[in-house]
Amino acid sequence: MRQVAFHRPSIGPEEEREVLNTLRSGWITTGPKAKRFEKEFAEYVGARNALAVAHCTGALHLSLWALGLKPGDEVITTPFTFTATAEVMGYLGVRPVFADVDPGTFNLNPARVEEVLEASDGRVRALMPVHFAGHPCDMDRLMKIARAHDLKMVEDAAHAAGASRHMDGRGMAKVGTIGDLTCFSFYATKNFTTAEGGMITTADDALAEKIAVASLHGMNKDAWKRYDKSGSWYYEIHDLGFKYNLSDVHAAIGVAQLKRAGEFMARRTEIAQRYNAAFRGIEALQPPYSESGIEHAWHLYVLRIRPDLLRIGRNQFVEMLRERGVGVSVHCIPLHTMHYYQRAYGYRTGDFPVAEDVFSRCFSLPIYASMSDDDIEYVIETVTSIARENRR
Ligand SMILES: Cc1ncc(COP(=O)(O)O)c(C=O)c1O
Repeated sequence: MRQVAFHRPSIGPEEEREVLNTLRSGWITTGPKAKRFEKEFAEYVGARNALAVAHCTGALHLSLWALGLKPGDEVITTPFTFTATAEVMGYLGVRPVFADVDPGTFNLNPARVEEVLEASDGRVRALMPVHFAGHPCDMDRLMKIARAHDLKMVEDAAHAAGASRHMDGRGMAKVGTIGDLTCFSFYATKNFTTAEGGMITTADDALAEKIAVASLHGMNKDAWKRYDKSGSWYYEIHDLGFKYNLSDVHAAIGVAQLKRAGEFMARRTEIAQRYNAAFRGIEALQPPYSESGIEHAWHLYVLRIRPDLLRIGRNQFVEMLRERGVGVSVHCIPLHTMHYYQRAYGYRTGDFPVAEDVFSRCFSLPIYASMSDDDIEYVIETVTSIARENRR
């Protein structure tokens, strides 16, 4: 039986060469390769500053920290995300205030954000939307809300490197050039990877400087040069810091991957289009919806079933796909239904019905650049036959 993995990174000779060069260079932790990756990522996104860090979790944490968020402050975000988005708020004693998602895009619904703000008692300091699956959020509306309420905008773009969205008065804007701070992930399954890694982009030079220093123990800028002929042994600690720097070995993978980012995204888009075309005609399946005026990064392909038209539920559907060799996952388990978020913040199952409905019916199919045409066809055939065989 054919096996199609849920994900496989595209690592080739370019990545091997870059990593080997770094390993042989005599400098393997944060240094020239990380600096080059920052510069090239900034160019890719069109951002003024890009700061490489160890992971997106660290990027999100540093961003909220750099904005000066304190215990008791609140940040509005989506419950339909991975725990990292809200977990970092807990590091700072900040409360994640969830607002329900849009049933089409699964992104933070601006109307729900407004309702949450109306009911709030003035402790909300920032919005943290997640560009879920690589579909950019409605940033015109969210930015308007943020400016009207004097809130900072920190975007979780873990899924959305390369995505863009039409913005009023600007035309197409790349994710990473819209809010105050944008956080990216280069985790192994992401659109392009450094195995583990992240990046923060910002147009604000002062925030960029603060984050650059804080990401390496609060040591003065470019302290990594202290072992270099041009560097000095002396460093100063200016502020509380963290150990969130990205090593040159990881950055080397990123430098090679970034060159192929356009090719990866084109292939993901092609796979999504083939899935959409195949599943659109099957009543029991609901392919993902894309708004107009966006360029989707297609990090995930999230398919929903219509349980009213099937004799099986989501879990059985997923099990059957696995039995027939199709790697599958579920994104995301809504955070407010998880033990920690219920215990720490008093959330209850039932609080965010749209996120819960999507979760109960969805699963994610394989979508990555190294999938062959036969893999794609096999996934389509398998999903289609399970849906047909189990039609009510
Ligand atoms: C939406 C979202 N935010 C943040 C993260 C954290 O990324 P990282 O693993 O780079 O810390 C992830 C990871 O998958 C994610 O899906």
